Amino acid sequence: MVLYEVTVYTGDRVCAATLNSVHIRLVGTDGKSDRTLLNSLVIFRGSVSTYTFCCSKSIGKLILIELDKRHSCLMPDDDWFPDKVEVKSPEGAIYTFPIHCWISNRETYRFREGKALRIFDESNSSGEHARHQELCQRKETYGWSEESPGVPNCIEADGPCTLPHEVRFSFTKDIEFKFTAGEAVLELDLKGLECSKKNWNSLDAMKHVFCDKHTTLSDYVQNHWMDDGLFAYQFLNGVHPTLIQRCKTLPKNFPVTDDMVFIPGGSNLSNELKQGHVYLCDYKNLDGMPANVVQGIQQYLMAPLVLFHKRPNDKMKPIAIQLKQIPAEDNPIFLPTDCMYDWLTAKIFVKSADFSEHQLNAHLLRTHLLAEVFAVSLLRKLPMVHPLYKLLIPHTRYTLHINELARKQLIGPTGIFTLFAASGGKALTMILARSLSSITYRSLCIPDDIADRDLEDVTDFYYRDDGLKLWNIIYTFVQGVIQHYYKSDEEVQKDSELQSWIRNIFEHGFLSKKESGIPQSFATVSELIKFATMVIFTCSCQHAAVNNGQYDYGAWMPNSPITLQHPPPTKKGTTSEATILQTLPPINVTVQGLTAYWLLSRPSSDFVPLGHYPEDHFTEKTPRQLQRDFKDKLDDVSKQISMRNEGLEIPYTYLDPKSIENSVAI
Ligand code: FE2
Repeated sequence: MVLYEVTVYTGDRVCAATLNSVHIRLVGTDGKSDRTLLNSLVIFRGSVSTYTFCCSKSIGKLILIELDKRHSCLMPDDDWFPDKVEVKSPEGAIYTFPIHCWISNRETYRFREGKALRIFDESNSSGEHARHQELCQRKETYGWSEESPGVPNCIEADGPCTLPHEVRFSFTKDIEFKFTAGEAVLELDLKGLECSKKNWNSLDAMKHVFCDKHTTLSDYVQNHWMDDGLFAYQFLNGVHPTLIQRCKTLPKNFPVTDDMVFIPGGSNLSNELKQGHVYLCDYKNLDGMPANVVQGIQQYLMAPLVLFHKRPNDKMKPIAIQLKQIPAEDNPIFLPTDCMYDWLTAKIFVKSADFSEHQLNAHLLRTHLLAEVFAVSLLRKLPMVHPLYKLLIPHTRYTLHINELARKQLIGPTGIFTLFAASGGKALTMILARSLSSITYRSLCIPDDIADRDLEDVTDFYYRDDGLKLWNIIYTFVQGVIQHYYKSDEEVQKDSELQSWIRNIFEHGFLSKKESGIPQSFATVSELIKFATMVIFTCSCQHAAVNNGQYDYGAWMPNSPITLQHPPPTKKGTTSEATILQTLPPINVTVQGLTAYWLLSRPSSDFVPLGHYPEDHFTEKTPRQLQRDFKDKLDDVSKQISMRNEGLEIPYTYLDPKSIENSVAI
């Protein structure tokens, strides 16, 4: 007879304990143990419990464990969340089995030993069988759904409650999320604003909304929103830093002339264009989109062109705005030298278009929906024992749940966006589909994206500075992990699971659009490293950059109107404060937008920052050391950003690693 010592680590999350009986079976290279009862009493939350049991003989090197849980008629059925199981063999070897998932009564669960294995590393039929079974089951559990043509496929589910337990919010996050929404709505209810369909009667009246809910930056925006400097600054360091590009030649449909724009220092527009001091934001993606009808009133959504001027070491300023794509007499080019309300009205239309482009393209499509594609493909195609699963699974936490919530509460038939945003009706899926058709792999990789937009030498561009640093740190980490497991390009090529994963992403995320440049297969180790870097960057840094400042910049509604209810002026000299108030959304629409912003900008108490891996999917020395090095480097960047921010009038905090979540979770 030989003895095996089994240590069970139960998770510390709410409801992780079990009152039920847990059985274990060990499977090794030389056989398997009997199915053995582990506990006769409660396994407590956060507990570490050790059990010893006998086997008639050694079963060799351990490959996997089987766990199952049964409740007696006296005890309620509950779910149990073990973190890991360690087994000490009679030979003295210690095997670790990472688990990190909910065990319920329904079935027998198999967990592989922690050493990462590619499919061609499998040398035992039990391991091969478990690998195959796991993927078959996941394929059933995580189906694809085609919600709208031209838009990335999403998880097949009917709301967050129908998702598997593993991918749902924790009990803590679920309660907090509901509480924050309730709190915001309650406060608004007290003020009696939620039902008022009246227009604002003055800009000052808006200042009293959310009087308890400020951030330093939302106050700053409220006080400076009319300044051209803050208007331009937001295209580099606000919530939408991914549209602006250097402009060397004016687009043909934007006929700005030398005499229209004043260039300080005696230069002219042609020279400034040649010298690279001119920048452009072009909202052509929104051209021709049918604007929503909100509360029975037709809304207006423009597709503007905005020109900016910046000299080295100077602040950037907008110098011309055309609100529609086709130049015409009734589509004037607005200038800072126009009367104050004309210029302000033009900027408001730009910011409203920017709201739609930012929310639908930069935020929803390029982070939330792509992160969901990465998550579902990973769950369907890579088993837990695969090194890429271990590397990427922490970066998918809560993504399926938050996206299911968004589909119900924001962009579903009765969602805030659908009901109240200018781009919330038919335009919503049209904009998403058009955005996807123009997405490129290079635009998802920040070094390529900055180069393509020709923004490498723009001063005071903190999104780029911090983003590139983080990309490089993530790349080094990913390179270390991947090169540890893949020693040659041939190994990447022959990993059929890995090839199937990228193919799944190409087909279901990018709808097989070859022109996107998204890889359809991996030929080299370096291709794999770049792609995995992009996945982590998109799910963490890029999402933080476009998500975390929503309340800072959106709380003062005129800076980011969710919709506009009056057409833009067709000639100059017809605007006033009164026309602006008629154009801005009414009180209840403003309130809906603010509620959503408030809720989506709050971190939850079980927030996991970038580079923190509380679940040990890797058990080997090298990847665990690489994780520690990764975290140390991120801590250094955080310190550098804090020091840099001390000298800034507007600190740029969205890419400070301590405020970046590991995954798209909000
Ligand atoms: Fe988000």
